[in-house]
Amino acid sequence: MPIIAHSRPTLDQEEVNAVNAVLQSGQLAQGQEVLHFEKAMASMIGVDGAVAVSSGTAALHLALLVLDIGEGDEVAIPSFVCPALLNAIRYVRAVPVLVDINPQSLNMDVHDLRKRLTGKTKAIIVPHMFGLPADIREIAALGIPVIVDCAGSFGTLSVFSFYATKVICTGEGGMITANDVQLLDRIRD
Ligand SMILES: Cc1ncc(COP(=O)(O)O)c(C=O)c1O
Repeated sequence: MPIIAHSRPTLDQEEVNAVNAVLQSGQLAQGQEVLHFEKAMASMIGVDGAVAVSSGTAALHLALLVLDIGEGDEVAIPSFVCPALLNAIRYVRAVPVLVDINPQSLNMDVHDLRKRLTGKTKAIIVPHMFGLPADIREIAALGIPVIVDCAGSFGTLSVFSFYATKVICTGEGGMITANDVQLLDRIRD
């Protein structure tokens, strides 16, 4: 039976050469290559800055911390998504609020989201499932900070995962992008 591989990374000699160059440079942790990657991502997405981190989960965790979300605060996420979102909310002792998805788009249902917002809702984390865009403009218009998961320049902060199965893959890795350079400085710190 032919097998359709799930998210096989597309890596060729160019990536092998790039990794070799880093290995031979003697600087394995953050250096010029990471700086270059951050600048390239910010420019591609059209935002003022980007901070590379160790994973998408770390990016989510830092995004929640920098928005001062903590004990007792509520954070809305879709019911159908990678558990990293729920885990990151638990890391900061906030309460995950699960929002129904739309069965057609598989994305967060804005009608259900509106019903679940309370005075304690401090953020909404919005991924775009399987390349189908969520109703991000409508969600952003609700006036609550939006963390866009792996998407682009909407929302307060955008987080990316560069895990092995992702569209851009570094093996493990993540990034946070934003236009608010003060927030980015705090994240980098
Ligand atoms: C939408 C989404 N956000 C965040 C993550 C977590 O990223 P990482 O595996 O780099 O921690 C994943 C899955 O890996 C994901 O699918």
